Amino acid sequence: MKIGIVGTGNVGSTAAYSLVLQGIGSELVLVDHFPALAEAHVMDILHATPFSYPVNVHGGTFADLAGCALVIVAAGVNQQPGETRLALLQRNAEIFAGIIPPIVRAARDAIILIATNPLDIMTQIATKLAVQEGMPASRVLGTGTMLDTGRFRTLLGQRYNVAPSSVHAYVLGEHGDSEVLNWSGASVAGVPLDQFALASGQPLSAEIMQQVDQDVRRAAYKIIAGKGSTYYGIGAAIAALSRCILFDERSVFTASSVMTEVEGVPDVALSLPHIIGRDGIEMTILPTLNAEEHAALKQSATIIKTHLQSIQY
Ligand code: LAC
Repeated sequence: MKIGIVGTGNVGSTAAYSLVLQGIGSELVLVDHFPALAEAHVMDILHATPFSYPVNVHGGTFADLAGCALVIVAAGVNQQPGETRLALLQRNAEIFAGIIPPIVRAARDAIILIATNPLDIMTQIATKLAVQEGMPASRVLGTGTMLDTGRFRTLLGQRYNVAPSSVHAYVLGEHGDSEVLNWSGASVAGVPLDQFALASGQPLSAEIMQQVDQDVRRAAYKIIAGKGSTYYGIGAAIAALSRCILFDERSVFTASSVMTEVEGVPDVALSLPHIIGRDGIEMTILPTLNAEEHAALKQSATIIKTHLQSIQY
C-alpha cells in the first residue's frame, strides 16, 4: 500500500517513522514545501529500514501522490509556547487552499487524513476543498481527539494500574481547549469506571476527575513549553489510524469528521467514536452522555462552528 505524507515537520516525519517501524505501507512518499527537508527525512528514515521493514521511502511532489491509498496532511504552522490551536487558523487555512486541491487531483482514490491544527476546522476546510475537486466528503477525516483519548486512557491506566488499552474512555468534540471527557461512559472490563475505582480502593473523587481533566486538556501546552512541539503521541496515533484504514480493521477511534448535526449545531467537524475501515468512517457511535457532557459537547461544537465562520476559505 502506498501512503503519502504532505508536510514533513515534526508531526509528519514522526508519523512516517512510526509507519516504517510498524511496517504499515509498502511505499512512503514524503512531500514538503522545502524539498531538502523531505529528502533529509527520507534518508534518515531509510536508514531505519534494515532494522524494521523494507519500506520504499522516497521524496516527491504532489504528482507523486498518484496511487496512494492514504494521504496524511501534516502541513502548516504549529503552536508556539502558550499559543492556542485556534490561533493557527487563518495561516493554515491559506496553506490548505494551496495544497488540498493538488493532493486530491493526484490521489483521487485516497483517504485524506488531516493532522494539522486547529484540527477540526482544518478537517472541515479540507473536506470542502476536496468535495470541490469531486472527492466524496466521506474520504476526509482528521486525527481529532484520538490523541486526547489516548492521554485520558494513559492517565487513568497509571492511576488505577491497568493497561491504557484496557481502559475504555473517550474524549469528544474539539481537539482543543473545549474538548469533552466522557467520564460517564468510561469503563474497565465493562464495569463503569466509578465502580471499578471504588473496587480498586481509590474512589473516583471530584479532585481526581479535575486533575485528570486538566492533565489531558493542558498536556500539549506543557509538552510544547518543554520541547517546542508534540510529535510522538500524534505520530503514533496517525500510524494507528493509518493501519486501521489500510487493513480495514474496523476499530473504534474518536477521529474528526464533518457531522450533519451535533447537539443542534449543524454541519460541524468534531470527534465522536467511529468504526473506521478501508473506506474511512463506517459508522458513527453516539455515546451515552449525562446532561453536563451534552452541554459541554454543544459548547464545543459551537466554538468550532463560530471559528469556522470567522474566516474566508
Ligand atoms: C497535541 C497537538 C497534536 O495535542 O495538537 O499534542
